[in-house]
Amino acid sequence: MNLISTLRTRINGRVLPMLNFPKPFSFVGAGSSLSLCREIAGTGVKRLLLITDGPLFKMGLVDPIIAALKDSGLTVEVYSDVVPDPGFEIVMAGVEKLKAFKADAVLAVGGGSSIDCAKAILMCHANNTHPSKLTGIWLYAAPRKRILPFFAVPTTAGTGSEVTIAAVVSDKAAQIKYAMVDPKMVPSMIALDPSLMTGLPPFITAPTGMDALTHAVEAYISTMATAETDELARMATASIVRNLPTAYSNGSDVQVRESMAVASSMAGLAFTRAGVGYVHAFAHQMGGLYHVPHGLANAIILPLVLEFSKVKCASRLADLARVSGIGQEGDNDTQLADAFIAHIRQMNAAMDIPQTFKDLKREDFEKIIDRALSEAHGTYGVPRYMSRADSAEMLNKLLA
Ligand SMILES: NC(=O)c1ccc[n+]([C@@H]2O[C@H](COP(=O)([O-])OP(=O)(O)OC[C@H]3O[C@@H](n4cnc5c(N)ncnc54)[C@H](O)[C@@H]3O)[C@@H](O)[C@H]2O)c1
Ligand SMILES: [Fe+2]
Repeated sequence: MNLISTLRTRINGRVLPMLNFPKPFSFVGAGSSLSLCREIAGTGVKRLLLITDGPLFKMGLVDPIIAALKDSGLTVEVYSDVVPDPGFEIVMAGVEKLKAFKADAVLAVGGGSSIDCAKAILMCHANNTHPSKLTGIWLYAAPRKRILPFFAVPTTAGTGSEVTIAAVVSDKAAQIKYAMVDPKMVPSMIALDPSLMTGLPPFITAPTGMDALTHAVEAYISTMATAETDELARMATASIVRNLPTAYSNGSDVQVRESMAVASSMAGLAFTRAGVGYVHAFAHQMGGLYHVPHGLANAIILPLVLEFSKVKCASRLADLARVSGIGQEGDNDTQLADAFIAHIRQMNAAMDIPQTFKDLKREDFEKIIDRALSEAHGTYGVPRYMSRADSAEMLNKLLA
C-alpha cells in the first residue's frame, strides 16, 4: 500500500465513525409497502417516478404499489428499463424520463440494481451531470447538490442498498463497476415488505442472501468497525445463518423472508459505516469483466478471503461463530473461526453455489488485481493486507 492509500484508510477510519449518516424511516412487515405509499402521499408529493426493472414490472409485482399510490392521489409514471448492474446509458435515459415527467419524487422498487439506478438518476439529475463524474467517495469530491425526495422498497434481501450511502453503476464499455458514495442518496423512507419477496426463486435468494452475509462479515472484521456496526453485524450474521437456508428451500415462508429483509438492512447499516473488504473488491471485478451476479461473486470469494484474513481476525470470526451457534462448546478462537468458514462453505454447497468462476482467465489476473487492490487499498479497513502475490494465489484457487 502506498502512502496516499494508507493515509486515506486512516482518514476513513477516523472520520466515518464520527459522521451521523441518515437512516431511513422503515415500515416493516407484510403489506408495509402499501403503508409507505400512503405515507408518501402525506408528504405532499404530487408526481412520482417509480423506478423498477423490466421483469418485475412485467410480473406485476409493482401493480398493487402503483394502485395504492394512485388511490392516494398521486400521478405516477414508471421507468422500468433497469437491468442487473445498470450502466451509464440506463441511468442517463432515466434522468431524461425524470425531467420529461417533471417528477417531484422517486420511489425505487426492486433489487439493488433498481435502487442503485434510482440513486444514480437522482444524483445526476440534481447535479446536472453524467454518472462518470460522480463516482468515488464524497469525502474526496466537490460538494454535490441534494436530490429529490427518495423512497425505496427492496424486493431482494441482499444488497441493503435501501439504507446505504452507495450506488453501484457500470461502465459497460470499459467493463468496470464503479461505486458512487454520498450520504445524500439514502432514502428518507423505506418499506421492508416480505410479501414482495416470497416469489424470489432459489437461484436469486441464495446469492443475494450471501451478499447480505458478506456485508455483515466484512463490516465485522473491518478495522473501521464501531460498537454500533458490531452489534448490527452480529445480529445480521446470526439471522442470515439461521434463516437463509429456509428462505432458499421454502421461499413462501413470509416470516423467514421478513427476517432476511431485516437482516439484510442491518448488514447494510453496518457496512455503509464500517466498509466492506477484499471480497467485494474482487467480486466487483467478476461482475464488471464476466457479468457474474454480485451476490454470487461474493459467495464464491468469501471463504477464500476469510481463510486468508483469519490469522489477523480469528477472534472476530469466533464471535460470529458463537452468535450463530456454530462450533463446539470449549472450542478456542481459531477452531471457531475455522468452523465459521467451514459453515459458509457448507451453506454455499447446500445452495448449489459453485467454488470457482467458469469464465475466469489467467490472462485477466493482472487487470483484476490492479483494479481490486486499487479499490480496496485506501478505502476499506481490511484486517490483513493482501499483496499482488497473495491475490494471484487466491485467484488461482478460483479458476474452474
Ligand atoms: N448500493 C449498495 O450499497 C449495494 C450493495 C451491494 C450490491 N449493490 C449492487 O446491487 C446490484 C445487485 O442487486 P441484487 O442482488 O438485489 O439483484 P438485482 O437487483 O440485479 O436483481 C437480480 C434479479 O432478481 C430479480 N428480482 C428482484 N426481486 C425479485 C422478486 N421479488 N421476485 C422475483 N425476481 C426478483 C430481478 O428482476 C433481477 O432479474 C449489483 O449491481 C450490486 O453491485 C449495491
Ligand atoms: Fe454487496
